[in-house]
Amino acid sequence: MRIAISTGGGDAPGLNAVIRAVVLSAVHRGWECIGIRRGFGGLLGEGELMPLGPNEVRGITHVGGTILGTSNRGNPLKWRVQRPDGSWEERDRTQELLDSFRANRLDALVAIGGDGTLSIAQHLWEKGLPVVGVPKTIDNDVGGTITTFGFDTAVSTATDAIDKLHSTAESHERVMVVEVMGRYAGFIALSSGIAGSADVILIPEIPFDIDKVCDKIRRREAEGRHFSMVVVAEGALPKGGTVSLIDPAHQRLGGIAEKVAHSIEQMTGKETRVLVLGHLQRGGGPTTFDRMLALRFGAAAVRLLAEGQFGMMVALQPPNIVAVPLAEALATPRRVRLDSDSVATARDLGISFGD
Ligand code: F6P
Repeated sequence: MRIAISTGGGDAPGLNAVIRAVVLSAVHRGWECIGIRRGFGGLLGEGELMPLGPNEVRGITHVGGTILGTSNRGNPLKWRVQRPDGSWEERDRTQELLDSFRANRLDALVAIGGDGTLSIAQHLWEKGLPVVGVPKTIDNDVGGTITTFGFDTAVSTATDAIDKLHSTAESHERVMVVEVMGRYAGFIALSSGIAGSADVILIPEIPFDIDKVCDKIRRREAEGRHFSMVVVAEGALPKGGTVSLIDPAHQRLGGIAEKVAHSIEQMTGKETRVLVLGHLQRGGGPTTFDRMLALRFGAAAVRLLAEGQFGMMVALQPPNIVAVPLAEALATPRRVRLDSDSVATARDLGISFGD
């Protein structure tokens, strides 16, 4: 067996741990491993192929990012090509990719990525390429698994930031509005907000009413709590409104914290500051939980390849790592359930969702 490994989409802490587990598990079976550089680009002339053995994956379990590089712009089904007049067109380069895969004598692919990469993997599987998926994303929005690796690290970074902001918010008697990532899911905001003792958490799953947000801040003021911490998911939206986009062409979310802060300042008269945590949440080494999950996912992916279970994704369904059909995982993206224990806990603690 000669297997390929690719990392696609936005990076997440734990990618290198998966790569290490896949390579070592494959080498122990006497297989060869090839890393595809820059997402799928390495098979389309955008990057080289990289032989991976024990030496290449030594000492990388705790290291953030991905030694293979990644891209969230290189979808082979919708490859953007610039025309001579400067405009862009999208081309389907699937066949080219399949040809390149065969020309490089690759037998199977381990595709590590979020919903975008896993959809591409599913498409390649439908075209006959033996593939196993590994779910990655700080957003935790992939179906079929109770969590993805990268999420725990991102939450821990966000919680740390909220903890630090508390002292300055209290000293200056200000409202701090912290924007966290998560795309259309509110998991990072919910977990870091609860763990970091936020007063208000705004998530995409619960459209907010700014009056209710300000009521909470005014109530605190009346109780002698002259500062407030508001955690906003980048995909949060007001009731009857739309999400805030900074790059509509690529559906890049952002800017909601600035809008919320502006309204809070106008409506309550409280001095308000904004912090957008951004890519800090994707940086750094993985937590112990994410390392373990990533290593377990990587080893399990190789076991699936050995059993010939293609078109599947490894998933955490405690206490086990199981195989879920890629199509099934992709059919239902994960979102915060309004009847979940975490939402109930936040409400019981007096945290407002602005609803
Ligand atoms: O999916 C991971 C993620 O970090 C999202 O939370 C965020 O919306 C997006 O990627 C940011 O992407 P980019 O790296 O293109 O800014």
